[in-house]
Formats: sequence, C-alpha cells, structure tokens
Amino acid sequence: MAITIVDTLYLIAIILFIVGLKRLSSPDTARDGNLIAAFGMGFAIVVTLVYPMEGNNNNYIWIAGGLLLGSLVGLIAAKRVPMTAMPEMVSLFNGLGGASTMLIAIVEFYNYPADQSLLSGQMITTDFALFVGCISFTGSLIAYGKLQGFLRDSWVLPFPKLINMVLLIAIIGLSIYLLNLPSLDFNYVLILLVLSLIYGITFVTPIGGGDMPVVISLLNSFTGLGAALAGLIYSNQVMLVGGILVGASGTILTILMCQAMNRSLFNVLVGGFTSTGPAAGGSREEVVKEASLADLAIQLKYSKKVYIVPGYGLAVAQAQHLCSELDNLLEAEGVSVKYAIHPVAGRMPGHMNVLLAEANVPYPKLIDLEDANKDFPSTDVVLVIGANDVVNPAAKEDPSSPIYGMPILDVELAKSIVILKRSMSPGYAGIQNQLFFGERSRMLFGNAKSSLQKLVDEVGNA
Ligand code: TAP
Repeated sequence: MAITIVDTLYLIAIILFIVGLKRLSSPDTARDGNLIAAFGMGFAIVVTLVYPMEGNNNNYIWIAGGLLLGSLVGLIAAKRVPMTAMPEMVSLFNGLGGASTMLIAIVEFYNYPADQSLLSGQMITTDFALFVGCISFTGSLIAYGKLQGFLRDSWVLPFPKLINMVLLIAIIGLSIYLLNLPSLDFNYVLILLVLSLIYGITFVTPIGGGDMPVVISLLNSFTGLGAALAGLIYSNQVMLVGGILVGASGTILTILMCQAMNRSLFNVLVGGFTSTGPAAGGSREEVVKEASLADLAIQLKYSKKVYIVPGYGLAVAQAQHLCSELDNLLEAEGVSVKYAIHPVAGRMPGHMNVLLAEANVPYPKLIDLEDANKDFPSTDVVLVIGANDVVNPAAKEDPSSPIYGMPILDVELAKSIVILKRSMSPGYAGIQNQLFFGERSRMLFGNAKSSLQKLVDEVGNA
C-alpha cells in the first residue's frame, strides 16, 4: 500500500521534471521551468524519506542530512558563482553526480553476498554503473581544471589513443572476468574502480580548446546515464526517469554542439584539440585601425541596420545592460538593432541568450548564425563585443587552424565592423584573428563595460 502511494508521488515528481524541462526550451519560460524541475527534485527527495525502509532507521537521518547539506551548498554556489564561472560549476556538480553513481555501485558490490554467482542483470548493471560513474567523476574534474585554467590543453600523455584503448580493453576484460567469478572477490572491484577512474582522466585530458563544450555536454549525458543505471539497480522510477531525461538531453546537446562546431563526435573524441602556440595570422607588419568614439556614435545613429555580436568578453565585463541601453537609444533613432548569436559563444550552451535575457533584450531580436550570416551584407555596422573565435575567418580559410570547419559569423561581409576588446589577445582557442586587420574593421580597445558606457554617452549626446 505504502509503495503504491510512494509510486504515485514519484509519478508527480516525474511529471514536474518533464514540465520543467519543456519550459526550459524557451527563454521566456526557462526561469519557471527551472523552478518547477527543482521543486520536482525536492519533492522526490522528500518522498524518498517516506519510502518504507528495511532495518536501519538511521537512513532517514542520512537522507535528511544530505538534503540539508546539498541544499546549503547549492544555495551558496548559486548566489556566489558568477555567470562566467557557470561552466566550471556545472562540471563540478556533474562530477558529484558521477561520484554518487560510483559510490552506489561500490556499495552494491560490497553488500553482495560473497557466495552468490555474479552473473545477473543486476550485477552487470552495477558493473556498468561503476564504470560510467567513474568516467563522469574524474572526467568532470579534469574538465573543471581545464576551464579554470589549472590544467593546460598541452598537458597530454604520450600516445593518448593507445593508452585509452589499452585501458578500455582492460576494463572490459576485467569486468567479464569479475562477473564470471563463482563468488565475489572485492579486490577485483577495487582494481576496476581504479582503472575506471584513470580512464576518466585519460579520456578527457586530450580533449580541450574549442571542443570543451562538446565534452562538457557529453559528460553530462554520462552522469544522466549513471543516474538511470542507479535507478535500475534500486528499481527506483524517479531516479530512472530523471537519469534518462538528463542522459537524453545531454546527448541531444552533444549532437547540437558537434553540429555547431561542424565536427563529428568521433573526431572530437579521438582527434584531440591543440591550441596553436604562436598566434596564427596577423603578421607583425599589419596594423589595426582604431575607432574614435565620436565618429562611431554618429555612424551608429545614421545607420539603418546594426548587429551586435556578443561573446565571452561581454559576459566577463557584465556589459549586457549597457548593450541593451545602446540598443534602446538607437532604436529610438529608427535604427534596427539585432543580436547575432553563435551557438558556442561564451563558455556554456545558451550563455549569450541567458545574458541578454537578464538585460531584458526581447527574444525575437536574437538571430541565429545562419540567418545573421544572410543579413550581414546589408548591415551598416557590426559591433563585435568581447567575441573572438566565433568571428574568426580562419575557421573558413586556414585548414591548419584548430577551429577550421567551425561555422562562424561572417561579420566581415558587413559594411563596417567595430571590435570592442581590451587588447589583441586571442580568444579561447588561442589563435590570432585576421578579422581585426580587415579593410573595414576598426578596434575599440578597453573593457567592454567602460567602452559601451562611453559609447552610450556619445550616442546620447550626438
Ligand atoms: P573568445 O573566443 O573566448 O574571445 C573572447 C574575447 O573577449 C577575448 O579575445 C578577450 O580579448 C575579450 N574579452 C575578455 N574580457 C573582456 C572584457 N572585460 N572586455 C572586453 N573584451 C573582453 O569568445 P567567443 O568568441 O565567445 O568564443 C567562445 C569560445 O569558447 C569558442 O572557442 C568556444 O568553442 C569556446 N567554448 C565555448 C563553450 C560554450 S558551451 N559556449 C564552452 C567552452 C569553450 P581581450 O583579452 O583582448 O579583451
């Protein structure tokens, strides 16, 4: 009877997850979608507290303690972590999800009756959960280190593909051996644990640079798969469905990210990514032209069509509100202002959408890559604000470039291009950008926030 009530309550939690996820698909409804899904998760945990437990009543204390501690850490992180550090936080939290699956699998092995045969659906699932949990755990920690800059992309073990292949064969071989033992020998579980943890490290270490968005969403789908496997182990529907939803959405995101980079997943995983050391393009003799604020303000005011290309630097400078202020001023003068959004601009999927939504930029003004590219030849001014790789023509022109093949915003087709950044430093991929030296390009050096503030003042006074 109690189980039936719990199952019904779990079904409500699952419906809340699905409604939340559906609402996340549009920026207009994303905020409450997030709240609905979070409420669903809280509800599911509380329901687990009333789940009839055999034997140890201390489990209630553990679950309640976990709920309180986890909520506290989540609350502090949500309040403190800046938007620009969100990918790092996602990686860390993702790693914790992987670690949970890993611990569940270890406990299952540990509690397994020593004299019983291991070859069962339950133990095959547990074995797989251990492997997936370990990759999500250590892989996410490596991704975190790379995003934080602790770990360099150039730090790669020799023969990474060979090492990964050997490890994978050893893990599969050991798993088959372990599951065919007449009774459990926990030492083999420990060896499997260590090998899988190492595999998570060696799997992610060779991937880096512009491929990080793909690896983050892939690890996210692994964590979802791990949660689903844990749901199977415990016959817990809410864990199973929650895991499937995370796994499936992570997989869809991985595919979309690969498409955005114009790479196959296989190519991302085995191809590796290397940031070129010395800046490619932009020889020493070439000089850049600097824009004057007064001229730019007048040019913008007398334009018909202006595009803003936001990038990571806009997020760093937190200049989104000034962007929208400039937009409003120009629109009041009859100028059409739109935003060209590259799918991997910034450091997390949808980063620019979130940023601009914060500044109340209406969603229809956000134009995707293909449509913006069609629009650029008839655009008077493109303001590239803190973006670099996503407008780098090397992606089209230089086969030796690490971003070669990635679709980019063809801003060089516009009548005039002004790039707002602090220096000539390269972007995330570590490569110089020939756009800055273009015939119609001008640079406005400075922090995006202060440059935009001055520009807003000039446009207001012009
Ligand atoms: P980036 O190529 O990283 O370029 C950002 C530019 O912003 C830099 O050149 C920097 O130049 C400038 N900048 C930094 N702080 C600034 C500030 N306060 N004011 C003004 N400018 C500032 O950015 P992007 O074009 O958005 O491309 C994103 C890159 O990140 C891609 O390579 C993508 O693959 C990668 N990536 C994306 C994701 C996701 S999921 N979106 C995740 C991981 C990695 P200065 O230092 O000279 O100012």
